[in-house]
Amino acid sequence: MVKNGAPKVIANWKMNGTLDLLSTMVDDLSSENLDHNIIFCLPFPLLGYAFVKYSNIILGAQDCHEQEHGAFTGCTSAQMLNELNIRYVVLGHSERRLHCNETNPLIKQKAITAFQNGFFPILCVGESLDVYNKGDSTSFVANQVKELTSDLDFPYAIAYEPLWSIGSGILPKMHEIVEVINCVHEIAPDIKVYYGGSVNSANAFDIAHCKGLYGVLVGGASLKSDELISIVKAFDQVTQHSSN
Ligand code: PGA
Repeated sequence: MVKNGAPKVIANWKMNGTLDLLSTMVDDLSSENLDHNIIFCLPFPLLGYAFVKYSNIILGAQDCHEQEHGAFTGCTSAQMLNELNIRYVVLGHSERRLHCNETNPLIKQKAITAFQNGFFPILCVGESLDVYNKGDSTSFVANQVKELTSDLDFPYAIAYEPLWSIGSGILPKMHEIVEVINCVHEIAPDIKVYYGGSVNSANAFDIAHCKGLYGVLVGGASLKSDELISIVKAFDQVTQHSSN
């Protein structure tokens, strides 16, 4: 199983992917012996399928409900995901904040419910382009992290995803990512920080060198085996080098 804590690469398939793609991806990763290095955050139907079919990959959810159960048509509870042996859940992704009106208090409640059901929550934060252009990224993210995590006394991770970088091919400068990581660590010193936003095989090595960064949350590039394999290898290489 996973040594040294959570995997460093989170594959966020969003509302993409098919059974065929999953099968190809699992074959490709197994042949490279990298199947345990990624958290596959798949759409719910694929999670159920993967639980039954593949014992060699680590699964994560893209969301869960803040309540344990009840009359919430169309929703999925942490307890149900727990039954599929899922231990990771991404919460508060900017697409859910935008399209499903998720707020920091709601996301915090989801994190609490998820933890109570055996999960390691990965909480997403990140500023808009407007905030970035004003030079206010760190203070904005600091406020989000404080609102999400004050009084949380269980393990969780933060995923820093500048909204303007998601799916755009444009990234902050590496030193800007490090500034945000530092500010997150001032609030929550020991937590793992992931970066997300246009991560691919071409920039993974540079990103892996960001001081204090734990791993990456990958959207578009996680739908291609060769991209995903290169990203995992970049992180492996940098981690091995820095632990020597
Ligand atoms: P992207 O998405 O890698 O396609 O930019 C990242 C995310 O939204 O998690």
